Amino acid sequence: MKKLNVALIGTGFMGKAHSIATAVVPILFGAPIEIERKVVVDIDEELAQNAAKQYGFAEYATDWREVVSRPDIDIVDICTPNSTHAEIAIAAARAGKHIMCEKPMSMTVAEAEAMLAAAEETGVVTMVSYNYRHTPALQMARKLIEEGRIGDILTFRGYYLQDWGADPEKPLSWRFNKALAGSGTLGDIGTHVIDAARLLVGEFASVNAIVKTFIPERPLPAASMSCASPLPMIRPMPSASAPSIPVRTSRSATSSGRLPAWGRATSISSRSNGTTS
Ligand SMILES: NC(=O)c1ccc[n+]([C@@H]2O[C@H](COP(=O)([O-])OP(=O)(O)OC[C@H]3O[C@@H](n4cnc5c(N)ncnc54)[C@H](O)[C@@H]3O)[C@@H](O)[C@H]2O)c1
Repeated sequence: MKKLNVALIGTGFMGKAHSIATAVVPILFGAPIEIERKVVVDIDEELAQNAAKQYGFAEYATDWREVVSRPDIDIVDICTPNSTHAEIAIAAARAGKHIMCEKPMSMTVAEAEAMLAAAEETGVVTMVSYNYRHTPALQMARKLIEEGRIGDILTFRGYYLQDWGADPEKPLSWRFNKALAGSGTLGDIGTHVIDAARLLVGEFASVNAIVKTFIPERPLPAASMSCASPLPMIRPMPSASAPSIPVRTSRSATSSGRLPAWGRATSISSRSNGTTS
């Protein structure tokens, strides 16, 4: 069986999730290739060392630059803060490595285009972690829409709310820092709703948004805080069935989401608890 070696960059929340996936997916579903958890990287050496042991990697390192071009690495799995995605992905692509990159893909459209161009040049396989589109509920919703079971889509409404940032005493983290996160809660969780909208009802023709920072200061050192909590309104491509797509995302409610779409014939709703009706 073919074996591919993974270098995981970033050992936090997603680094752990991806490590669990590479460990259990072959057990749950079988896999046509063997994945070896080869090297785990974090700028924090203690985290890297602990992760190697806990997540089952053969080695650890602290500088991704020394890892992504290693001849024994086949896949680079990017689980670092958003501001680092483009640089790591472009270096990995140029070194001929396949790439799994966490969302949001990049800080800007220009960065995303440069990432894509680098991957196309070497022909590597790439994926951005819009994991919700693979949930059974959304796949079922897509199938029902494709089969015409709900008729022409007239409107789609999606929201994804989380409450952990609503407390002003919650300390500053990279997610609240525009230089590291880029787009606040819109990039953090709004992107999942935007991706779900694209999956279910297609591409956008134009976008407009109202953004507001509700908590301008947080109790931690000097870092500046300028990520907005946006309330975007997104218009879809004009078409015969042109749905309107308000997407709402905020850090002020318990984690929840629902992705309903109303059609001419009936309606469909995918919830964050994994059900569709
Ligand atoms: N797909 C999803 O549902 C989902 C969920 C959460 C987070 N994410 C994305 O995953 C990425 C990571 O988020 P997280 O929640 O795991 O963050 P986190 O803060 O838990 O972990 C980030 C880790 O990266 C390390 N790091 C920072 N800069 C680094 C560098 N230059 N080189 C090596 N390591 C570095 C940090 O020390 C930290 O251990 C973000 O892009 C985020 O948007 C996606």
